[in-house]
Amino acid sequence: MNTILPYIKNKALTSEKVQNRVKELILELRVNKVLSAHHLLYILDHIDETSLEYLFKQASEAKQPFYGNNVYLRALIEISNYCNKGCFYCGISRHNNRVNRYRLTVEDILTSCDKAYELGYRTFVLQAGEDPRLTKETVVKLIQKIKQRHKDTRITLSLGEQDKATYQAWFDAGADRYLLRHETASKTLYKAIHSNDMSYENRRQCLYNLKAIGYQVGAGFMVGLPGQTNEHLVEDLIYLKQLNPHMVGIGPYLCHEDTKLKGNASGTLNETLVMLALVRLSLPKVLLPSTTALGTVDETGREQGLLAGANVFMPNVGPTEYKKDYEIYQNKICVTDTTETCYICVRGRISQYQHQVNFGVGDHVDIERMTSYDR
Ligand code: 5AD
Ligand code: FES
Repeated sequence: MNTILPYIKNKALTSEKVQNRVKELILELRVNKVLSAHHLLYILDHIDETSLEYLFKQASEAKQPFYGNNVYLRALIEISNYCNKGCFYCGISRHNNRVNRYRLTVEDILTSCDKAYELGYRTFVLQAGEDPRLTKETVVKLIQKIKQRHKDTRITLSLGEQDKATYQAWFDAGADRYLLRHETASKTLYKAIHSNDMSYENRRQCLYNLKAIGYQVGAGFMVGLPGQTNEHLVEDLIYLKQLNPHMVGIGPYLCHEDTKLKGNASGTLNETLVMLALVRLSLPKVLLPSTTALGTVDETGREQGLLAGANVFMPNVGPTEYKKDYEIYQNKICVTDTTETCYICVRGRISQYQHQVNFGVGDHVDIERMTSYDR
């Protein structure tokens, strides 16, 4: 069994014949938008620098008919770092008692939204750990307040696993989208990196519930997790193809020394770029963020993500003083920056890489075409 993407380690695999086969399979995925597990695994096991460039070119082209070179900005607000979940990789899990826990006030959140709105953001992403104080009612009120102030916007929630009635109440209050990464589609790997009280089945059920309610749904996974193999990554691709989400969040796993997984290697830039590109080819219409974790693993990681098929940036617009405490992984970028400096920075980065910022709400292309979607 291979560990991830051996092309860096094993030059013997890079014969011309093998690389031509890899390119053939990439093209097949581009055209058919689906590939067998066996062929996906062949790509991951054999891809090297030559076929990598080909893959990125195909992925870049695949987003053109739907989104061109537009990059959609999402204003991220990390509203609480309290969490009662036990994910072994995560720096703010309940196991870490070194975290300085905080909860933003409603005032703080509304001010962050106002500031972001003024700069042109039209999507607010409210993200938190699974904080028991973020009850159904509290969040309903918060959503209503934001939507009253800013009608022409979308609200994305990223508040973890909840029961269906809670998801429904938040949707009815005006939430439009929900991010809940499936983390890994492999049941064995899922169990190895989560506490016993967490359920692989429930997480998947949540994603189906969110879809059934009518949210634009985002799943996603980490790349380079301890014990993750190419076979596991193939499972992620196959699961995503089945689920057919509107968004997919992918980032490298970054080791945090205050977690149960301390001492492990982190995921790399190239591994993550490959997975972004393969997701773009299998779900060409998907909204695909170039994540902060990608920008953390490499100075130009997010920009390279755009060239590998990504089309969303999620700058943090919360109060600067709390950013360092939302430390899901270490060395996170931007923790001392303000809403304004990040905004200027991302605009510069996006335009330097032949992309342009889009100031619309940035719905998934299928939703945009439904004129009735006017909430
Ligand atoms: N490295 C990278 N990503 C992480 N996440 C949590 N911990 C880490 C880490 N150490 C990701 C998970 C989660 C999202 C909010 O952040 O995928 O769903
Ligand atoms: Fe935050 Fe560059 S995006 S400083």
